[in-house]
Amino acid sequence: MGLNLRYMQLADIRQVAAIDVICFEPPWSYESYTFEITESDVSHMVVLDQQSDEAPPPSPRRQLLRARLRDKLRGHGPTTYSTGEILGYGGLWKVDGEAHISTIAIHPANRGLGYGEILLAGMFGKALQLDAEYIVLEVRVSNSVAQSLYQKYGFNRVARKKNYYRSDNEDAWDMRVSLGRDTRHRFDRLYEKLRLQHGFSDAYSRASRRRG
Ligand SMILES: CC(C)(COP(=O)(O)OP(=O)(O)OC[C@H]1O[C@@H](n2cnc3c(N)ncnc32)[C@H](O)[C@@H]1OP(=O)(O)O)[C@@H](O)C(=O)NCCC(=O)NCCS
Repeated sequence: MGLNLRYMQLADIRQVAAIDVICFEPPWSYESYTFEITESDVSHMVVLDQQSDEAPPPSPRRQLLRARLRDKLRGHGPTTYSTGEILGYGGLWKVDGEAHISTIAIHPANRGLGYGEILLAGMFGKALQLDAEYIVLEVRVSNSVAQSLYQKYGFNRVARKKNYYRSDNEDAWDMRVSLGRDTRHRFDRLYEKLRLQHGFSDAYSRASRRRG
């Protein structure tokens, strides 16, 4: 089984939205994902997928059908297709010196296995690659699991935003981490440990952005 961090593609939205609807109220719309992937200049959406080694190669008939579909869609749709199972996803906006984590989620069936940390580390690395000065995010005050993950990467609670979540008026913590030298060294150590532990490939944090 291979774990891969990579940029989110249009073909991933169906799987991503299925996780989103379980994790957040309200979930993002299909159009929001499309905009983030194809139009926004500041957005860097990521997925963590798992390729199965046991998947048999497609039959010649299926290969032919896929080739025909690709021809049909050329210029009208996505040119790449997600093949693995998406375990989770995240989003990062980079504006001036700020990197803002807009979302992060792992399917409930796959939590507690280190996958959320891989996604966060990927976005952290992307913020560094883009020369951000700091990373910021909002998190529910009741979400101690996510807060613990962010604290592991040096985020601190800097302000409480009253009634931030419209669905139920819960407050949010504004959490931030400055990307100074010490933080970078700490991140490098955590990232290497994570790579050794999970052996994932990373075509996101050090790659340049490709659309759709
Ligand atoms: C937050 C979330 C992404 C974490 O993903 P995950 O894959 O379960 O987390 P990981 O297994 O990678 O654990 C990473 C760290 O998170 C924290 N964590 C994970 N599970 C925890 C638990 N049950 N209790 C406390 N802390 C926990 C720990 O700090 C852990 O580091 P450690 O293993 O060194 O202790 C996941 O719980 C999720 O998708 N939640 C719903 C969506 C959400 O709340 N997103 C955040 C919005 S701000």
